[in-house]
Amino acid sequence: MRAESRRAAMEHRGLGRPRLCWLLALLAALALRPVRASASPSADLSLWPMPVSVQTTPRVLLLSPDSFFFGHSSASKAGPSCTLLQEAFRRYYDYIFGFYKWHHGSADLRVGMELQQLQVSVVLEPECHAFPSISSDESYTLLVKGPVASITANRVWGVLRGLETFSQLIYQDSYGTFTVNESNIVDSPRFPHRGILIDTSRHFLPLKSIFKTLDAMAFNKFNVLHWHIVDDQSFPYQSVTFPGLSKNGSYSSSHVYTPNDVRMVIEYARLRGIRILPEFDTPGHTQSWGKGQKDLLTPCYNRKEPSGTFGPINPAWNTTYSFLSKLFKEISTVFPDEFIHLGGDEVDFDCWESNPEIQDFMRNRGFGKNFKKLESFYMHMVLDMISAMNKRSIVWQEVFDDESQLTPGTVIQVWKWENYNQEQSQVTKAGFPVILSAPWYLDIISYGQDWKHYYEVDPLNFEGSQEQKKLVIGGEACLWGEYVDATNLTPRLWPRASAVGERLWSHQGIQDLGDAYRRLTIHRCRMVRRGIAAEPLFTGYCDHDRLLK
Ligand SMILES: *[C@@H]1O[C@H](CO)[C@@H](O)[C@H](O)[C@H]1NC(C)=O
Ligand SMILES: *[C@@H]1O[C@H](CO)[C@@H](O)[C@H](O)[C@H]1NC(C)=O
Ligand SMILES: *[C@@H]1O[C@H](CO)[C@@H](O)[C@H](O)[C@H]1NC(C)=O
Repeated sequence: MRAESRRAAMEHRGLGRPRLCWLLALLAALALRPVRASASPSADLSLWPMPVSVQTTPRVLLLSPDSFFFGHSSASKAGPSCTLLQEAFRRYYDYIFGFYKWHHGSADLRVGMELQQLQVSVVLEPECHAFPSISSDESYTLLVKGPVASITANRVWGVLRGLETFSQLIYQDSYGTFTVNESNIVDSPRFPHRGILIDTSRHFLPLKSIFKTLDAMAFNKFNVLHWHIVDDQSFPYQSVTFPGLSKNGSYSSSHVYTPNDVRMVIEYARLRGIRILPEFDTPGHTQSWGKGQKDLLTPCYNRKEPSGTFGPINPAWNTTYSFLSKLFKEISTVFPDEFIHLGGDEVDFDCWESNPEIQDFMRNRGFGKNFKKLESFYMHMVLDMISAMNKRSIVWQEVFDDESQLTPGTVIQVWKWENYNQEQSQVTKAGFPVILSAPWYLDIISYGQDWKHYYEVDPLNFEGSQEQKKLVIGGEACLWGEYVDATNLTPRLWPRASAVGERLWSHQGIQDLGDAYRRLTIHRCRMVRRGIAAEPLFTGYCDHDRLLK
């Protein structure tokens, strides 16, 4: 998918010239050579992404795995019945102590002031049983002081982000004792939409891989999993209304997400404060749909005869819209998120053009030979359907580019590398919200530390008023699946996506590449220690490697 444009993007970036690229990467890597090769959390801060405000003191507190615990403050609106927080406490206890305990037994406590507890307080209605949304409040304050540290947040979502930060503050001193400096942290995200796109059509991803991705997303404070669930190659989503779609359109009967699988992904994500944004891309990218749904795709013609091949969904048939409205009705109830991604990218007009029925339809509608008008007609029908279901739509940028009267509030995802700043400028000028992905196509790989290119992007670096900038709701790192399956998903995503994670969470002024390299190296080892097979940034070793012999 998007192969042509991606090739263009690679040429543009000079990635098509591997030797030069290799040299540059090597030079760049040497310039950032770390002083020490080992990477371990230490008394130096290694927070990722960087919080809005961090104050630390040289006073250290010691934690004992045997007596430290998480609890609810008596002032909190959430208590032990909030399973979302209880489960988070269990996870973070393990992230902090689990690995070491397993290898060391429990560490001996050095004498000193002990940190006995982290107490959590939720100020407003906690939302323990709610789904996170675009407007979820993820802000928190974290006060680390002996003997009781505290996280205060309006909602549970802020507590989750605060727990991650707290876990990143803790390190083992030279005696092996768990240690944390007294600190005071105030934090909230810069953008509300911070996503990772995975593609389960080109290759099926087992649930285990999706769960791992969600774990790693939480470590990097991402909050949207954009699930590009179906495409030309396969249709793994098992629909209750149209079971034929996956029966005929999946790679095999085991390459399918059942309704229960989907529920599990949504719940696993919810517990980590992550939204699941489903994408059902139409009218192009739908070859697999045709296998299980007759009379949906456009028959292509060779002169006067059907050629036996099919093109995009047929916008001229009424049955198309009754089918789509039933399917999207189901999707809108299965996925709780307020948004559905409708795709709309890369529609091939040749097949439409060859088809006499479509030619008639165009003539009757007065579209002339303008197939963009036909594309707009189709997208309008689907967008109206989604509005009628009280959901909001996200579409790829072509829908904006080719459409004159787009439904207000439709979110435009900017993905084309060419002039993406200009595109952001135009989209926001027309008043539409934007999600930026163009500079963050992680499926394009090259030698060396490409994370720096992702890191150096600023999503607001385009010409426009303050009002326009406010329409940028965030961004997504996209990992298209042509060359990605369960074997390489995790190392290809992490820590490269972490760069995008910090860019979308942290303050605009956090830009120091050297400091980012230092923190990210440690953060990558932290992810490895927590079971995420994140690839190395450069040479060296993780401190915990020594313990694995
Ligand atoms: C943490 O405390 C240690 C020991 O006093 C000190 O050397 C270090 O600079 C402190 N770190 C931070 C980030 O304040
Ligand atoms: C699924 O494929 C089989 C075999 O090609 C075909 O007979 C059947 O009609 C298809 N089912 C649907 C719902 O299109
Ligand atoms: C399709 O729907 C339109 C609008 O409701 C109607 O005018 C038209 O007759 C229908 N066409 C067919 C073939 O049913």
